[in-house]
Amino acid sequence: MTKPGGPNIAADLVRIHRVITRGLEVSIRHTRAPLEAATAAGLVSYVQTLAWVLHGHHISEDQAAFPFFRQKQIDAPYLLLVAEHGQIQAILNEVAPALDRLAAEPEDGKSLAFVHQALSRLAGIWYPHIQREEAHLTKDAIAAAISLEEQISLAQDFAQKGQQNSGPAHLAVPFVLYNLSPEDRADMLRVMPPEVIQHLVPVVWKDQWAPLKPFLLDAD
Ligand SMILES: [Fe+2]
Ligand SMILES: [Fe+2]
Repeated sequence: MTKPGGPNIAADLVRIHRVITRGLEVSIRHTRAPLEAATAAGLVSYVQTLAWVLHGHHISEDQAAFPFFRQKQIDAPYLLLVAEHGQIQAILNEVAPALDRLAAEPEDGKSLAFVHQALSRLAGIWYPHIQREEAHLTKDAIAAAISLEEQISLAQDFAQKGQQNSGPAHLAVPFVLYNLSPEDRADMLRVMPPEVIQHLVPVVWKDQWAPLKPFLLDAD
């Protein structure tokens, strides 16, 4: 068993999947009915951040995790998984202009319905996709093929690629942290510099991510 605090890439994967799954479910739920004026801008920003975090996660899998796992001969349907990333990204590319229209005009019911339907289609790909990943890329399969040192460096590379491609940190970091349960959040914080939760999130970035709060967990 991996020691607490030690690298566990399988757990890292599951945790970011939980962030995205909640983000998707909240976004689908809140785009079902007309947006409330007070929180419309926050919701649009929340869905935009979801799209960035999803994009960053796929880049980190396509460019860091999967090539390394393949090289180590960990069995998984990589071609299918990468193809599904492409399908998900194509939907996100359709959603982006509709979100821009909603940001300018929150009463635009047609764009809202489009976003709702597109995210529902995306969810149809997402759930079987993460089931496939989590069924193949287990802690045991990874530990059997990759040394502890390699896991540490891959976990860093994985996190770095994800962060670099997840849009503005002042939105992505609170989005990731506060779409997690308190227990998962504590695990996530262990791999972040203490400055993030002590200073950046509560002080420096406070006003920038405040509009997301109605859609997050424990963010007040
Ligand atoms: Fe994936
Ligand atoms: Fe994934």
